[in-house]
Amino acid sequence: MLFQDERFGMFVHWGIYAVGGWHEQEQWRKSVPKEEYIKYAEGFCPEENSPDEWLELAKNAGMEYVVFTTKHHDGFCMWDTKYTDYNIMHTPYGKDLLKEVSEGCKKYGLKLGLYYSVPDWNYKHSVNFGGDHQLKKPNPGDEPNEELYKTYIKNQMTELLSDYGKIDALFWDIPPYNKDASMNEFVRSLAPGIFINDRGYSKGDYSTPERSIPKNKAFTTLTEACQSVGRQSWGYRKNEDYLSHKLLMASIDSVMSKGGNYLLNVGPDAKGHLTEEAKESLRVVGDWFCRVSESYKGAKLVDLGLSTHINDFLVTKKDNNLYFHLPPLAESSGLALKPIDVLPEEVVVLNTGETVSSELEYMPFYYDGLGDQTPYLHLMGIPVNRLVGEVIVIRATFPDLDELLKKWNAEQSELIL
Ligand code: GLC
Repeated sequence: MLFQDERFGMFVHWGIYAVGGWHEQEQWRKSVPKEEYIKYAEGFCPEENSPDEWLELAKNAGMEYVVFTTKHHDGFCMWDTKYTDYNIMHTPYGKDLLKEVSEGCKKYGLKLGLYYSVPDWNYKHSVNFGGDHQLKKPNPGDEPNEELYKTYIKNQMTELLSDYGKIDALFWDIPPYNKDASMNEFVRSLAPGIFINDRGYSKGDYSTPERSIPKNKAFTTLTEACQSVGRQSWGYRKNEDYLSHKLLMASIDSVMSKGGNYLLNVGPDAKGHLTEEAKESLRVVGDWFCRVSESYKGAKLVDLGLSTHINDFLVTKKDNNLYFHLPPLAESSGLALKPIDVLPEEVVVLNTGETVSSELEYMPFYYDGLGDQTPYLHLMGIPVNRLVGEVIVIRATFPDLDELLKKWNAEQSELIL
């Protein structure tokens, strides 16, 4: 089940905006008239089987699901919909890309979620002008009509949720002015058990912090954070500024340790390919993720009240293991871990599989000769310099960890499912 078994997903922003290679909201941000913008459809011709390239990369990166943009704000539909001609069948490509993506997901054992934008800068009955990511006024000749627009959405939802196999999540984007709980009910009637996000017509099941790491401690409700490999755009951008691998690792580590899911976005170009930089991000970050991911899945954030001077030092727990997530700027080769007063059976750097030496020791930081004279756990020889490009995660295995956590008054997070 998503959020439990599947924690890491690939977000894919793909549409005719890739032809411009500037930003997925080019039509709106540059005030391009609709009749001009739609010409991008004439230049959209991906190469055969191009989704396979990034779905395979997703699989190799340890990702377990994909969220695909079926219709972004520009209103262009990436599947064979009968409710508008503004769709993939009317491009030089002329084949249903959503079908290819859903079949590719099956091939690689990936679950599939669908992104669907509420703003629609093309459909003649769409509404909410002047709102967030909405046109200031209707396109010439359009006839805004909320009921007709909702019927259009429902018709499209029926296609999307019936013709492409099991859909595990619906990612609405940009909540409309007027809430309407019946829209999610309709979606659930078509796809029982589907997870629906919080950007639609009513509250939904999970929240979607975007490009930021919430400061709070463990998430207590379902959360899926999203971030792109590039800073400027979600869709393909020729002059993209790529986020550093280390920043992406740190962001994944922080969100997942706190119990959240993580969607890492890529934007294929008009030929269907990812840039070399995007592919490299998936390879490098994915390789790291696969080595450390046991510290997230099925794990809980624990607060041991550690008296270290390191900020945002996260610890997760699973079975008899504690996982120490070093901050991105890992400052030293050792860690002094009061109140842990038991020697672990084994301490392993997940990044490399090497063991780390440990001792119970009176640390000068804590030991004042008067008060607490307990020897506490001291880990030594952590390869912080060798692993300077990665977020380091260390696993320490203890006998009867649950009993020890009680003794140390540790608090464990509870995710409310
Ligand atoms: C924002 C942007 C949109 C993007 C989305 C991804 O809502 O408007 O372009 O698709 O974030 O979460």
